[in-house]
This record gives sequence, C-alpha cells and structure tokens, in this order.
Amino acid sequence: MGMSSSHNVLLLLVLSSFLPLMALAQLRQDYYSNVCPNVEAIVRDAVTKKLQQTFITAPGTLRLFFHDCFVRGCDASVMISNPNDNDEKHNADDVSLAGDAFDTVIKAKAAVDAVPGCTNQVSCADVLAMAARDVVFLTGGPFFPVELGRLDGKISTKAGVRHNLPHPNFDLDQLNTMFASHGLTQTDMIALSGAHTIGFSHCAKFFRRIYKYSKTRTIDPTMNRGYALQLRQACPVGVDPAVAINMDPTTPQVFDNVYFQNLLNGMGLFGSDQVLHTDRRSRATVKLFAANKTAFEEAFATSMIKLGRVGVKTGSQGEVRRDCSMFNS
Ligand code: HEM
Ligand SMILES: *[C@@H]1O[C@H](CO)[C@@H](O)[C@H](O)[C@H]1NC(C)=O
Repeated sequence: MGMSSSHNVLLLLVLSSFLPLMALAQLRQDYYSNVCPNVEAIVRDAVTKKLQQTFITAPGTLRLFFHDCFVRGCDASVMISNPNDNDEKHNADDVSLAGDAFDTVIKAKAAVDAVPGCTNQVSCADVLAMAARDVVFLTGGPFFPVELGRLDGKISTKAGVRHNLPHPNFDLDQLNTMFASHGLTQTDMIALSGAHTIGFSHCAKFFRRIYKYSKTRTIDPTMNRGYALQLRQACPVGVDPAVAINMDPTTPQVFDNVYFQNLLNGMGLFGSDQVLHTDRRSRATVKLFAANKTAFEEAFATSMIKLGRVGVKTGSQGEVRRDCSMFNS
C-alpha cells in the first residue's frame, strides 16, 4: 500500500511537471484577459470600420484565415513578406488573396497595439482568427467564441504552400483527403465550403466548366445551363484576368445558407462546390444545410473553431510578431 501511494505521488509529480507544457498548446478564450482584456472589442471595431470602407474585407479576411491555417497551421505565416518574394503569398495558390484582407489584419493589430498594455502582446495569428470570426458575424452569419493563444510562426516559403490548399477542380475524395490531413471531417469540409456564400472569383478558376469541359462537351453537365450561359456573359473568352464575379449569384454579400440552395440547382461555381451535391456521399449534408440555416450555422461555427486549432504554435516554435509582415529578428 505504501508502495502504491508513493507511486501515485510520483505519477502526480511527473504529470504535473508536464501539465504546464501541455497547457501551453491549449487555446483559451480568455488568453489575453490579464494583459489586454478588451482585445476582442478593439479588433471588432477596426474590422467594422474597414468593412464599411470596402466589402471585400469580409470574404478576403475569411479566405486569408483558411489559407493561413492550411499552410503550416494558423500562425500568420501567410502574412510574411520575405526577400526575393520567397513567401507563401507569392505562391500561385495565394496570389489572389485580397490585399484588403492583409490590410484588415494590419489595421486591427495597429489598433490593438495602440492600447497601453496590449502593445506587442497579441499575435497576428490571433488577430486574424478574431477578424475572420467577426466578418462572418458582420455579414449576417453566426457569432461564435474565438479561441486565443496562437503564436506567430517563424517560417514562410513559397514552396510550403504546395499540396496544402484545395483546387477548384477537386473531386470529393481529393477534398476529403486534404481536409483530413488537417484533422477535419467531410462534414467540416462541407460546412466550411459554405464560406463561398460571400466573395468573388476570377473567371480563370471556372473557365473550363463553361467553355471546354471535355472533348465532347463545352459545359460541365453538372452545371445549370442557364447559369453557365450567364457566366459566359460575365466572362467572355479573352476577358481581362482581373475581372472577378460573385460566387453566390443570389445573395453575394450575405453570409447565409443560399450557397447550399444554389448547389441543389446546379449553381455551384467551382467543380469542388458542385461535387458536394453531385456525389451521393456528401449530398445529404448539402440538403440539410440548404434546408436548415441553423444547422448550417452551428456546423460552420464548430468547424471554424476546429480550423483555428490546426497546427497552433507554442513556446519556442513561435513569437508575437511586432509587424505582421516581418519576423521579429
Ligand atoms: C473546399 C475547398 C475549397 C476550394 C477548392 C476553394 C477555392 C477557391 C477559389 C478558387 C476561390 C476564388 C479565388 C479567386 O479567383 O480570387 C475561392 C474564394 C474564396 N474562398 Fe475558397 N475554396 C475552398 C474552401 C474554402 C474555405 C474552407 C473557406 C473559408 C472557410 C473559403 C473561403 C473563400 C472565400 C471567402 C473566397 C472569396 C475570396 C474573395 O472574395 O476575395 N474557401 N476559393
Ligand atoms: C434545424 O437544425 C437545428 C440545429 O441542428 C435543430 O435544432 C432543428 O430542430 C432543425 N430544424 C428543423 C426544422 O429540422
């Protein structure tokens, strides 16, 4: 008996000496409550102001968060400007990220840093996570708690983006494999795809679907024909590559579940959108989200929180960047 209780004490000692380390990896809602208790309100005000100036703030920031988290984890590595342009944002998969999204994070971080006590305390990765949560709510989507305590990463390379972001021609298996590699389920993937309810796409991203789908077909047979013809008008052959069109043609500026209703009508813009309805394995979830806005909003919030936990940096793996576009040293 004496033996086993001393073993228990030893076990406790060993456990408790590891606990602080493990606790570091754990994100918390109140992470900044001592140093910067109003951080969420400060970020929300800055994001609200920026959104009043330009709508692209909303979709841009949401997409920036997704691209950040899928490449080296949610560590603001996507914000870095390296010499010779060898950084994530110069990869082909990231060049269409909206400049206004970077500006949103920079402005929100500046607002935080302007408050005594908060200066240089809040990571760019956390500011981005808060801003992404805020733009969803500010455009009519659900509000959800944001977990904090991410550090900013110390690596950003062009090559690091490769094979980490989904492409618009992916089928269901490719989408699932990529999301699973970041710890996300098919349901997470479908819910998060609902982000395409706001924002823009350049014509090149869906050009094949409306002009040269295959040897025998010009239009993708899973696409609504009327929608395809409308898209041809918006994106004529030889269109200026800078032209971008609304991804949700019905309510492009509202964060709602119309994206899923559009899928039921063959009005998903990308192959990766439409396949969620075409493939029997994901169709039931699409139908649920199309029919029940609350079910979509709850799933989206849950999946955003999960997305925000991907590859979080702690301890010596990271730092709190002073300038979001540069490493500290
Ligand atoms: C499921 C796989 C996904 C694919 C294949 C995909 C692909 C794309 C593509 C090709 C664009 C258009 C980019 C352009 O032409 O500028 C785009 C835009 C966008 N994506 Fe996704 N995406 C996916 C998932 C997500 C997720 C998970 C989110 C966020 C949670 C997201 C948020 C957005 C937003 C908000 C835009 C509009 C950006 C803007 O207006 O600046 N996407 N996506
Ligand atoms: C919609 O989804 C919510 C959340 O899952 C659920 O509580 C509610 O019962 C659903 N409504 C209908 C009409 O099925």
